[in-house]
Amino acid sequence: ADRRALIEALPKAELHLHIEGSLEPELLFELAQRNQVEIPFDSVEAVRAAYDFSNLQDFLDIYYQGMSVLLHEQDFYDLTMAYLKRVHQDGVVHVEIFFDPQGHTERGVAFDTVIKGITRALDDGEEQLGITHRLIMCFLRHLDEEAAFETLEQAKPWLNRIHGVGLDSSEVGHPPSKFEKVFAKARAMGLFPTAHAGEEGPPEYVHEALDLLQVRRIDHGNRALEDAALTQRIADEGLTLTVCPLSNLKLCVIDRIEDSPVRKMLDAGLRATINSDDPAYFGGYVNDNFQAIADALDLDREEILTLARNGFEGALIDADVRQRHL
Ligand code: HPA
Ligand code: ZN
Repeated sequence: ADRRALIEALPKAELHLHIEGSLEPELLFELAQRNQVEIPFDSVEAVRAAYDFSNLQDFLDIYYQGMSVLLHEQDFYDLTMAYLKRVHQDGVVHVEIFFDPQGHTERGVAFDTVIKGITRALDDGEEQLGITHRLIMCFLRHLDEEAAFETLEQAKPWLNRIHGVGLDSSEVGHPPSKFEKVFAKARAMGLFPTAHAGEEGPPEYVHEALDLLQVRRIDHGNRALEDAALTQRIADEGLTLTVCPLSNLKLCVIDRIEDSPVRKMLDAGLRATINSDDPAYFGGYVNDNFQAIADALDLDREEILTLARNGFEGALIDADVRQRHL
C-alpha cells in the first residue's frame, strides 16, 4: 500500500511507448465504426480475449491488425490524446513516443496524416496537461532497408518534430546490421539513434546495435545480461535500457515477473528504466509496471526512486529541464 502511494506520487518519464500500442479495445471499436473498417471481433471482450500471446510475432500480428482502424488525422489525434490523458493520471510528466509510420504508409495512409495527428495531440497535451514530449520514428525491421530510407525521406519536412529513430517489429532474423546505412544517414541528420535489441534476439544483436547503429539507448536489452563483457560496456558507457516488465511477461520473454532483468541491471550498475511498451495489449500503464516490478522484486524506496530518476536521466531533454525533474 505504501509502495503504491509512492509510485503514484512520483513524477515519471516514459521512454518506451509505441503509440499504436496504446489503442484500447474501446477506441479500436469506436474507430472501426467511425471509419467503417471491418475487424474480426464482435465485441470489446472478444478483442481483449484475443490478447493472449506466446511470443513477439503473435502480438505483432494483432498489433498491425489493430492499426487498420487508424485512417484520418483525427484518429491519430484521438489515439495520442487518450494515451496522454491516461498517463497524466499516473503522474507521467514526460513521454518519448515511438511511432511506426510504415505500419500506416503501407496501408495507404499518408505520413503527414499520421504525424500531424500525433503532434497536434502532443502539443495540446503539453498545453493542457503539462506533459513534455519527444517523438521517435521507428523503422520496421521486417521490411528492407530501402523502405526505411524512403521513410526517412518522408520525415525530412518534420525534423523539427522528430528527435530520434528507432528499430522495432520482428527481431530474430532481422539483425541491426540490416539497417547500418540508414542509421548512419539518420545520425548525420541529427536524429538520436535507439533500437529494440535483446528482447528475443541474442546478445550479438545488442553488440550490433552498439557497434553498427551506434545507438545511445537500448530498448529492452534483456538478453544483453547473458554477456558479461557487454553488460560491463553498457554500464561503462552509461547507456539507458528501457525495460518493459509486463510486456516481457505477456510476450513470454520471461515466465514470471520475478524473472525480470531489472534487479540484475540495477545491481550491475545499469541505468534501467520502467516502461509500458504497448499498454493496451499488455495489461498495464507505467504505474502498473512499477507496481508489478516493485512487488515481485521487493524493491525498497531507494530502488523505486532510482528507477524513476533513471527515466529523466535517460530522456532526450536538455540538462536544465532534467535538473528541474531530479
Ligand atoms: N518489440 C518489437 N516491436 C514492437 C514492440 C516490441 O516490444 N512493440 C511494438 N512493436
Ligand atoms: Zn517496444
